[in-house]
Amino acid sequence: MESLTIENFLKTKNEKGEVGKEVYATLIALCSAAKKIAEIAAVNGIGADSLGSLTGAENTDGDEQKALDVLADQLICNALGPTGISAYLSEERDEAVIFEGSDSQIVVASDPLDGSSNIDTNLTIGTIFSIYRAEQESWLREGRAQQAAGFFAYGPQTVLLITTGQGVAGFCLNTEGQFVQMDWQPQIPATTKEFAINAANSRYWPAKVKRYIDTVLAGVDGPRGQNFNMRWNGSLVADAFRIFRRGGIFLYPEDSRKNYENGRLRLVYEANPIAFLVEQAGGRASDGKADILDITPTSYHMRVPFIFGSTDEVDSYHSEQ
Ligand code: AHG
Ligand code: MN
Ligand code: MN
Repeated sequence: MESLTIENFLKTKNEKGEVGKEVYATLIALCSAAKKIAEIAAVNGIGADSLGSLTGAENTDGDEQKALDVLADQLICNALGPTGISAYLSEERDEAVIFEGSDSQIVVASDPLDGSSNIDTNLTIGTIFSIYRAEQESWLREGRAQQAAGFFAYGPQTVLLITTGQGVAGFCLNTEGQFVQMDWQPQIPATTKEFAINAANSRYWPAKVKRYIDTVLAGVDGPRGQNFNMRWNGSLVADAFRIFRRGGIFLYPEDSRKNYENGRLRLVYEANPIAFLVEQAGGRASDGKADILDITPTSYHMRVPFIFGSTDEVDSYHSEQ
């Protein structure tokens, strides 16, 4: 049976009224931008300057911008121009880009290049996006109001995980340059034996995080009575895709470092879109207490502690709180 292309998948959703015309156009535009990013990343290091080279600028959140951060952001912004959306929020921009003449109130928030520290190391990087309607001029809405969300991961495969509120669908870029649906229904298993955390930060963690990690490290000899494995990619999209594939728990909690009192990940264009996908795939996403999707954003680049994945394991973390 011929695999469904993203275009036909979205066309059907539009005909069924599951996505409006701006969201439909936006998702097609994001796929075209992602294809360009994948092509550029695949030949990094040949000819032109390294895509991981520092531009000398910092983004609002204080991260040093890499060449591909800025290029990916520009490709996405250019692709969004004709879609009819009202505003574009980006990790790489202080302020929203307002598209004059649009009254759709549809907003796209994006992390144009996730996992920037991995650009020159041939590890999986990605693009994360969130689409919602924002009535007021703040261009912010709580995550539960998202109309669509997803991420592209540029790795051995270029994949797209997407939701418009009726479950999660997975697509893979084929050799003809088409995103075709994978024969896989993304569902996150309720239990897991695998956790993802940057253990190098353990001395900065609050006691509750140490307690939880100590229980999983104790393995079969400890209270959990089973051994766990650990993975940490340094790219949210890579850890997330694995968790959609085989379950797991991802933790980026708050810690005692300066600016990390709410962890590292940003609510509007990292936690919210991933949390929407996770809940749609039967998982749980929290800040350690509240569901991510219920948090009211107060600024574009606000950070949140971010714990997500297999429901029973996220609940185990909560029970240590
Ligand atoms: P970004 O490159 O967009 O700033 O995102 C990086 C994030 C996320 O992808 C990853 O999980 C996390 O930062 C890694 O943080 P550490 O480098 O502190 O481990
Ligand atoms: Mn990121
Ligand atoms: Mn980024």
